[in-house]
Amino acid sequence: MTSNSVFRTIDLFAGPGGLAEGFSTCEAGDTQFKVALSVEKDPGAFRTLRLRSFFRNLNDSGRDDYFRFANGELSEEELINRHQGAWAKAEDETAMLELGNPEHDRELDKRLDALLEDDTDNFVVIGGPPCQAYSLAGRSRNAGNIEYVAEQDHRHFLFREYIRILEKVRPRAFVMENVKGILSSSLSGGKIFELVRRDLMNAAGKGSYELFSLSPDPDKAGYVLRAEEYGVPQARHRVILLGLRTDVADCFASTNACLTKSDEFVTVGEALNDLPSLRSGLSRGEDSFELWKEAVAEAFSIAAKAAPRCSKLRARLEVHGKEILGRNDARRTSADYGAKPGSDYASGLRDPRLKGPPNHDTRGHMRSDLARYAFCSTFAELEGRAPSSRDFPEALAPDHQSWSTGKFADRFKVQVETKPSSTITSHISKDGHYFIHPDPTQCRSLTVREAARLQSFPDDYIFLGNRTSQYVQVGNAVPPLLARQIAKVLGRLLSKDNGQVKAA
Ligand SMILES: C[S@@+](CC[C@H](N)C(=O)[O-])C[C@H]1O[C@@H](n2cnc3c(N)ncnc32)[C@H](O)[C@@H]1O
Repeated sequence: MTSNSVFRTIDLFAGPGGLAEGFSTCEAGDTQFKVALSVEKDPGAFRTLRLRSFFRNLNDSGRDDYFRFANGELSEEELINRHQGAWAKAEDETAMLELGNPEHDRELDKRLDALLEDDTDNFVVIGGPPCQAYSLAGRSRNAGNIEYVAEQDHRHFLFREYIRILEKVRPRAFVMENVKGILSSSLSGGKIFELVRRDLMNAAGKGSYELFSLSPDPDKAGYVLRAEEYGVPQARHRVILLGLRTDVADCFASTNACLTKSDEFVTVGEALNDLPSLRSGLSRGEDSFELWKEAVAEAFSIAAKAAPRCSKLRARLEVHGKEILGRNDARRTSADYGAKPGSDYASGLRDPRLKGPPNHDTRGHMRSDLARYAFCSTFAELEGRAPSSRDFPEALAPDHQSWSTGKFADRFKVQVETKPSSTITSHISKDGHYFIHPDPTQCRSLTVREAARLQSFPDDYIFLGNRTSQYVQVGNAVPPLLARQIAKVLGRLLSKDNGQVKAA
């Protein structure tokens, strides 16, 4: 393999590293992507990134120790002590820095200069600037803030940091991800997206990059990729821009450079059903298996009484309530992970060395919400769709004025077993009402691991930081499975280009 076939990948605004995971695990002929530097400001996400980089640098015996750590048989400290070389590499490949902070920018420049020193023209930049200011939710939140001036929101300008680094590194290619809101967001009367496109195309001098869509039907989809069309069990629609340096862009036209859609959708059930069943916790007050049984059976009874008389729904709610009362296993362990065969999708994410899936603990829920969870999941089990607020019986409506005005419509949403999930967003860190598990008898929101499964992270991808941070990390990520397909197309393009590239 020539050195030209290994592309050093710089991951900006890296989050927990979903995009980089896809790139580093992609097999595209003789082309490989090696993560040279991941930059992230959040301490929890940074710890996750560093651990994954460490994992990538471990040899086989090191990996055995990693799995002992994942199984709780070795502490993080012991693991690192045993494999200091791999740890040093991980420290080299990750940086906890805030782009746009002058001191941090100087530090980043030093690290980039060290990478650029050998003058090898083999860089690829991935990652997109954060999207809160562009996103529709962000904009509606800001709409209520009379002091909000879009032009002064520094997040609008973070993409300039991205441009600055493109200018410095002059990568052969970049992949920029962002929310769809970027397409319609405006600033001073102009479309943000047009500014972004213009700046990207001129990032390293006028006309230095050409931009492409990776969608097989770009005329219809533009730059938007729908993750569920590429084997991810989740409706996640994001703008993905591929930028190719003008001197290598010809290869785009001569290659079949787009993703290939999967034949079928992967469902929530296929993604989650082999994971151990867990009971929810009870928040605010004592929590034990006996108290939980009592609380959940009562929740099913409340939901059954609220459902229409003589309906199938009422009958099913009663059956579930009885089943829970008669249960004698606590279902709060990962013990049955090894036993169940998974779907093809799940098999691809499991590792036989794991005794249980990491990050698979349930949250506590308020007793008042359990009846809504019971209702939603049982409704979906029967109807094959999540109930909307219109389907909610009056007696279960939350005590919220805005419920009836429709503002909180769909505030409680179950993920339907037979379909891809709705978009996993960082909002999952808040209360989980929007991410209810499809199995009524577990009566709970999704765990971090379940969210990670819907995002196509392998089970050995461990999320560090506190649980709220872990949820945010998972919700923010690009699904590695989608990222791998993007990397594969880019790998093919760049290998065609190998040897033809003009001096940068
Ligand atoms: C959408 S997430 C990126 C997800 C990532 N591409 C992945 O696939 O996992 C954006 C990340 O940018 C980080 N971030 C925001 N502002 C930053 C800044 N100024 N410097 C560095 N990181 C920043 C956030 O903490 C967040 O983790």
